[in-house]
Amino acid sequence: MDDFESKVGDALVAPQNQGEMADADAVGTVGSPECGDMMRMWLKFTEKDGKKVIDRASFQAFGCQTAIAVASVATKLLQGKTAEEARHLSAQDLAGDLGTLPPMKIHCGQLVEGALRNALDPTDAPTPKPQNSLIGDIHSAKPQSIRIVPLTN
Ligand code: FES
Repeated sequence: MDDFESKVGDALVAPQNQGEMADADAVGTVGSPECGDMMRMWLKFTEKDGKKVIDRASFQAFGCQTAIAVASVATKLLQGKTAEEARHLSAQDLAGDLGTLPPMKIHCGQLVEGALRNALDPTDAPTPKPQNSLIGDIHSAKPQSIRIVPLTN
């Protein structure tokens, strides 16, 4: 097992910040056209030193282990960032201490990046109500109502 896989394994032992956030200020959802996986991210902002920063972030994933591990790391990494700072984070940035995303896993990190971007810019794509669960949405949605948002490198 290489270093990246080993760190993903460690992150999966106790993923951080999983689940819906009832009092979220923003929520973003994205689907990967490559594998069909989906991710939703919730953000809660607070005021700190006169700036609006991310206080908490959480996620729900219908996806692979790498996406879950990156989301877990990312939700911790986002704390204290302004929306503008968060907007500039790449999939690789969001992977943090997990290390360099292997080529086959880049889209897994981009799933997290996409959910974050959708939360930060909800005009980009329709945003579901925060109280809905991702799993519930997937199972109850008509196939034509699920929008797959292409992610760019
Ligand atoms: Fe789909 Fe990783 S394989 S997000």
